[in-house]
Amino acid sequence: MINLKTRFFGLELKNPLIIASSSLTADVSKIKEFSGNGAGAIVLKSVFEEEIINEYNQVAKSKTSAHFHEFMDYFDYKIRGQILENYGQLIRSAKEVSQVPIVASINCISSGDWLQFASQVEDAGADAIELNLFVMPFDPTRKAEDNRKFYLDAVKETTRHVKIPVSVKISSYFSDLASICHELDCENLAGITMFNRFSSPDIDIDKEKVFEAATTSNDTEHLLPLRWVGILSPRLKSPIAASTGIHDAKHIIKMLLAGASAVQMASIFYKKSPAYLVELRKNIETWMQQKDYESLADFKGKLSLTKAANPGAYERAQYVSSFGGYASQK
Ligand SMILES: Cc1cc2nc3c(=O)[nH]c(=O)nc-3n(C[C@H](O)[C@H](O)[C@H](O)COP(=O)(O)O)c2cc1C
Repeated sequence: MINLKTRFFGLELKNPLIIASSSLTADVSKIKEFSGNGAGAIVLKSVFEEEIINEYNQVAKSKTSAHFHEFMDYFDYKIRGQILENYGQLIRSAKEVSQVPIVASINCISSGDWLQFASQVEDAGADAIELNLFVMPFDPTRKAEDNRKFYLDAVKETTRHVKIPVSVKISSYFSDLASICHELDCENLAGITMFNRFSSPDIDIDKEKVFEAATTSNDTEHLLPLRWVGILSPRLKSPIAASTGIHDAKHIIKMLLAGASAVQMASIFYKKSPAYLVELRKNIETWMQQKDYESLADFKGKLSLTKAANPGAYERAQYVSSFGGYASQK
């Protein structure tokens, strides 16, 4: 009997297939389908502090009243309340239709707002929180230490403030990725999701315009998280969920072999229906049967940095000997 149970978000999940945060998980009917087709857990679309700031700025531009400041203080309070109330409603509706854990996702860009956001999603009944943290490093005056402090403070304060488990989703944009994961790992974390994937600019050469490139991943992108799951899984106490470019059962099995406890998938469900979860589970089970594995513990991390026969493949980056070189030109 195959057992796909795993632990992530501080919870026992019936399988490692987590539906990642996206617009699909802001839709209660989709959430019901993901749950009905056997997802292990569902991460809701993030609530964004930026959304509140944008709305605030829009209104601020249009107001010239003598009571401008009082009005804007009140307005800030109102939109904040409204956005969080809507998000609370999403959590409650998702909980009603889902048999699997519902995880709230919070994206804040300044350090002050975590606690209010976290308390409200906890009160609304979320089973866990994923902090979607990202500082785009484009500001030449902002030092790496400032960003580091922001990440660590956000995690430290939130884990202290709420009773439900808190995990963090990070990007790969760190010059000291292993070190920051190591520090985050000390903060009583319920998991690290690596990596988030962001929108990218592209250029239309006919119209000579910058536009937002396709939002969904392609499947070769899973190789980036695969490297870091393999390197970091033996070194971290926190479980890891791999994310980006995971589109089929083979990708999921690779991540588990590298040491992930779970995977998070978004893009593939813009191409395939939630029923694809059934096929994914069946294909993982078939592979496990062929290999005589009964549970994920039988092979999780079997090919991580410390267990693989050729660990150098994880750490090597330069094509030193591939495709010949200057020496072969002689
Ligand atoms: C349309 C879209 C919206 C997304 N919105 C969010 C979001 O609100 N919060 C978040 O943490 N990640 C968001 N993501 C990122 C996904 O959760 C996921 O980490 C990323 O897309 C990589 O996984 P994938 O290759 O399976 O798509 C979004 C992705 C897509 C495609």
